[in-house]
Order: sequence, then structure tokens, then C-alpha cells
Amino acid sequence: MAAERMADLSDAVGDRPAMALKGLNLSSCTQVSALTLVCGAIESFLEFHRMLKLIPFRSKPGPLRQKLHTHVALTGVERTFPPSDIIVSKTCPKGVITYANKVFLDVARLTESQVVGAAHSVVRHPDMPRAVFALMWSRLQAGQEIFAYVLNMTSCGDHYWVHAHVTPSFGADGQIIGYHSNRRVPDRSAVDTVAPIYRELKAIEDRAANRADGLKSSVERLNSILRDAGVSYDQYVFSLAS
Ligand SMILES: Cc1cc2nc3c(=O)[nH]c(=O)nc-3n(C[C@H](O)[C@H](O)[C@H](O)COP(=O)(O)O)c2cc1C
Repeated sequence: MAAERMADLSDAVGDRPAMALKGLNLSSCTQVSALTLVCGAIESFLEFHRMLKLIPFRSKPGPLRQKLHTHVALTGVERTFPPSDIIVSKTCPKGVITYANKVFLDVARLTESQVVGAAHSVVRHPDMPRAVFALMWSRLQAGQEIFAYVLNMTSCGDHYWVHAHVTPSFGADGQIIGYHSNRRVPDRSAVDTVAPIYRELKAIEDRAANRADGLKSSVERLNSILRDAGVSYDQYVFSLAS
């Protein structure tokens, strides 16, 4: 009973820190930092009680984590990271993050407790076309690796491009036990080539009558771009990297 009430509290607090901060006259980045601190404090409180077994651990991402980015306005500010750095994350087979390295947390401006247990879409940028993720997931679930340029969003509303290598991880029985992604900072020329293509795909998805039609048309357009270039997706992505 007590555990249920505490779990309800954990659901209920989801939007309140953001609502409380709305009344303050702070810049959006300061608001997000304050929100992050408040969320972190609430998470710590909840984790302490989970340790005491008063609140059960969730097997799916909690609302506090899922909604973090929906509170944030895009700033248009691009962030980058040194070529020697690698952003690493691992997920379970459903795409829920099980590990993120310090570079990931620093670049995304998230804490480990906000990230671990969250869906990987926690860093999703709204301008990314769904066709790219559809291709990613179809490859991964077929047991294949994929390289992709991905635009991500920080908890502040800034954005950063990555050149990602995403791979399935296999158990001793050959079954997929999760996924692993290593990301480096992409060449500017590659971003300059990919960005307008992604904008076109996103526009196709947005103007479709429904999500399914939008995704179908977007995938068809991506395939037609590759056909015109006379290359496969992999050849195209490799051709962009120096
Ligand atoms: C290992 C791994 C890494 C991923 N990395 C990212 C990422 O950096 N950014 C991102 O937006 N989605 C990433 N995804 C894809 C997300 O799971 C998700 O499909 C995507 O954000 C689209 O979310 P949506 O379907 O809710 O729109 C990754 C998935 C896996 C399995």
C-alpha cells in the first residue's frame, strides 16, 4: 500500500517542477538546468526509497525521464565534441538505455539517473526523419550493424550531430541481448550533405495524411536518392566520411 502510494507520487511529480519553474523569469537554459537539478533531487529521493524497497524499480521508462525533452524549446545552438571523444551507450533489446558513458552524459547534458532506464529517444531531436530510425531498427533486429548520421538534442534544447555505429550484441545462444552504439563527431561536409536530405524526408513525413503513409513515402524518397546516386545506403554513408 505504502509502495503503491509512493509509486503514484513518482508518477504525479512528472510535470510539477517544470510548471513551478514557468513562473520564474529565467532564461530557458537556466530553467532547464534548474529543472534538471529539481528532477535529479526527486530521482535521488525516489532511488533512496527504492533502495529501501518502498518503491519498486520500474521495468519501463518513468514519465519523469520520458518527458524531460518535451519541456524544452529548441535553441538552435549547435554543440560539438572533440574528435578523440566517443559517445557510447548500450540498450536492452527494446531500446531502453542500460549504460551511457561520461561523454554521452556531458554532451547531452543529462545525468546517469535520467538516462539509464530511459528510452533512447530521450535524446531524439524532433527534426530527425523517422525513416532513418526505421532503417536502423530493421537492420538491428535482423542482427546487422548500421552506420548513420544522427541529429540529437541536449536537455537544454541545443543540438549535436553524431556519426553513429550501432550494433546488436549477441548472447551465447546467438540471440540478440541488446544494442551498442559508438558515436564520433562527424565531418562538417558530411553534415552539410545529410542535413538537407533529412529536412526533405522530414517534410515528406510531416505533410502525409498519417504516420504510416509518411514513413512509407519518406523511405521511398530515401531509396530513390540512393538509386539516383547508384549506391547502397552503406556505400552512401561511407562515402561521406573522410
Ligand atoms: C543502441 C541504440 C542507439 C540509439 N541512439 C539514438 C540516438 O543517439 N538518438 C536517437 O534519437 N535515437 C537513437 N536510437 C533510436 C531510438 O531508439 C528511437 O528509435 C528514436 O529516437 C526514434 O524515437 P521515436 O520512435 O520515439 O520517434 C538508438 C537506438 C539504439 C538501439
